Amino acid sequence: MKIFLDTANLDEIQQASDFGLLDGITTNPTLAAREGRPFRELILKACEIVKDGVVNAEVVSTDTDGMLREGRELASWHPNIVVKVPMTPAGVRALHVLHGEGIRINVTLVFSAAQALLVAKAGAYFVSPFLGRLDDTAQEGLHVLSEIMDIYRAYQFPTQVLAASLRGPLHVVEAARMGVHIGTMPFKVFEQLFRHPLTDVGLASFLKDWQKARKVLGEIITTTGVRTAGR
Ligand code: E4P
Repeated sequence: MKIFLDTANLDEIQQASDFGLLDGITTNPTLAAREGRPFRELILKACEIVKDGVVNAEVVSTDTDGMLREGRELASWHPNIVVKVPMTPAGVRALHVLHGEGIRINVTLVFSAAQALLVAKAGAYFVSPFLGRLDDTAQEGLHVLSEIMDIYRAYQFPTQVLAASLRGPLHVVEAARMGVHIGTMPFKVFEQLFRHPLTDVGLASFLKDWQKARKVLGEIITTTGVRTAGR
């Protein structure tokens, strides 16, 4: 599963990229607005950091013509940009036209398998079901995700499923178990994936034991960089 960060914050993008784990980012108007700088500059800086990965940038028009204008403009900024359009009739009309022009489209704000079916038939590059927001309304985000995966597999749609609005490691792991193509998550969730209390406890006890026997064990690195531990 590819890992995308759901952020427009350049420090977070840089930190995830430094691990060599970042395959792309998703932004949305709310995330972009938080950063308080020109959108084009922000997206281009993100493209620089993400390098070969994908940067998702969303239109803000709600009519098809406006989405077409914005979509073409966003796609012209950088070859790694994927244009996000909302799952509305106007958005799907824009998807149909932009897809025909070779522009990659991510249909966002998808909350049902029925919506995901339409999006795949209309040629979306990514479909973004929002798990956490479904959970917030007492519907099971993971269940909707599994319905989408079943339908896409049955018809071998090339549209990639981008599980969005992931709220914790369980969402990420369950999405991966289903074979979802991409998971996009806030930096906080990305950090949580690293952690396990037993890792911390185990490391602390290893280091404590090493310290106790340090005189006998010696140093791992000598001035010549040769391993001498235990000799
Ligand atoms: C995806 O593209 C969206 O930006 C995102 O996942 C929304 O998640 P939220 O529900 O945490 O805002």
